[in-house]
Amino acid sequence: MAEDNKRQYDSIIHLYGDDILNSEGMNDSKHYIQHGDTSVYDHCLSVADMSLKIANTLNLNYDTVTLVRGSLLHDYFLYDWHEKDASHRLHGYHHSEKALSNAKRDFELNEVEEDMIRSHMFPLNISKVPRHKESVILCLADKLVSAAEVLHGII
Ligand SMILES: [Fe+2]
Ligand SMILES: [Fe+2]
Repeated sequence: MAEDNKRQYDSIIHLYGDDILNSEGMNDSKHYIQHGDTSVYDHCLSVADMSLKIANTLNLNYDTVTLVRGSLLHDYFLYDWHEKDASHRLHGYHHSEKALSNAKRDFELNEVEEDMIRSHMFPLNISKVPRHKESVILCLADKLVSAAEVLHGII
């Protein structure tokens, strides 16, 4: 059952997000590490999967295309945040705005997708409160996936 769901979520992600997954920017993100040994690309795929899982488990009404695309693009900041560089300082606070401006440059976003990317670091970014259901789902999915990536191999 879990395997069936995973396969189903994978096909939904590819159906609505293939242009994002095949883009130059996302390709670049395969070379940037997010947490542990997980690339930003793999992290974003896992977060999209987790967003769908949460939304379906809680039986929420949501826009599938928006949930997939906003989740895939939430960390589209396109740099290695581990590299010491003045522009990467306070990455946790600033990368959502960088991801949003890159995503707006490379893709057409709706208002909810913009909000998802902008607010995904709430409550660290306390002033950027999620304003849509899809944004709250992403916020939660990102934290669950990030915790699993950080703890992988430790516990
Ligand atoms: Fe992020
Ligand atoms: Fe993330």
